[in-house]
Amino acid sequence: MKTAFIFACVVVLAVVGVCQGGDLRKNFYRTSCPSAEAIVKKITQRLLASNPGLPAALLRLHFHDCFVRGCDASVLIGSTANSKAEKDALPNLSLEGFDVIDEIKTEVENKCARKVSCADILALAARDAVSFQFQKPMWEVLTGRRDGKVSLSSEVLANIPSPFFNFSTLLTSFQSKGLTVHDLVVLSGAHTIGDGHCNLFSNRLYNFTGKGDQDPSLDPTYAAFLKTKCQSLSDRSTTVGMDPGSSTSFDASYFVNLKQKKGLFQSDAALLTDRISNKIVGELQKSTDFFKEFAQSMKRMGAIGVLTGNSGEIRKKCGVINS
Ligand code: HEM
Repeated sequence: MKTAFIFACVVVLAVVGVCQGGDLRKNFYRTSCPSAEAIVKKITQRLLASNPGLPAALLRLHFHDCFVRGCDASVLIGSTANSKAEKDALPNLSLEGFDVIDEIKTEVENKCARKVSCADILALAARDAVSFQFQKPMWEVLTGRRDGKVSLSSEVLANIPSPFFNFSTLLTSFQSKGLTVHDLVVLSGAHTIGDGHCNLFSNRLYNFTGKGDQDPSLDPTYAAFLKTKCQSLSDRSTTVGMDPGSSTSFDASYFVNLKQKKGLFQSDAALLTDRISNKIVGELQKSTDFFKEFAQSMKRMGAIGVLTGNSGEIRKKCGVINS
């Protein structure tokens, strides 16, 4: 009877998704390194004071980690003479925040050597940085990830979605990671903070179909504003806030702007081109709804392909595989 009950619970929990994340757990470091999570939070918050772009940088770093070989910190590994790492692939050249993870790792190692993975540090730091604005954790980060031993630049393009993707290529990308159309829309809301480089969207301003035209799905007033920032197709250095008017605040205004045809990338605008996705955009315009959904989707993203148990390793330095 008791066994049947436990079995039923496991089935129910699995169905509602509570068991997602493989062997990730709450408080994984309770006995092995009780201060780990507090150290991550303390250093992240200290560094935030001098770097307001840190929440965006760490959130994107975590996403780019999870989409290539799972959340295993493979994005943090440096290239060697024999192998070009993920970090040096084109979509990753503008990633930032590596130094922050290294600084946290050094202090965590001093406290408890070889216990806490770089993959967990990254997941926790991203959460803590975004949450600082709210003075409370915005999503739960389960822990117990281990670090991967492989990082190949050649795997990045096939796994990181491009800002030029349309709806169907975006969805295929997310589905290949076990995520849904709902996760795709909700997680795109991460673009409520941070910046984008001109060359990743200026075709929409100057040459959308090869005839010197503008993307008709972009609001003309917003396009005129963007043209004052990005003055040519070849500008690769200027950046623009992705969520016009509110790109340092984590809120639901990304969805409000998106509905007004003010999404920066084609991949943002693409979310309006599918009936179901467009409906979800409409439902996420209230911050309470967005925050609740974002918390759930981040938990799913943070569980993609994780290494647990005896797989992988606990790296000594986040940029280098243990020898
Ligand atoms: C849906 C597919 C996605 C595409 C095509 C995409 C594409 C991009 C691009 C092109 C940039 C600007 C990079 C640059 O200019 O150097 C960017 C920035 C950013 N992305 Fe995404 N992204 C996607 C999903 C996500 C997800 C799922 C997250 C996190 C959950 C995320 C978080 C961010 C953040 C926070 C930034 C700003 C980074 C900063 O300012 O440092 N993105 N994204």
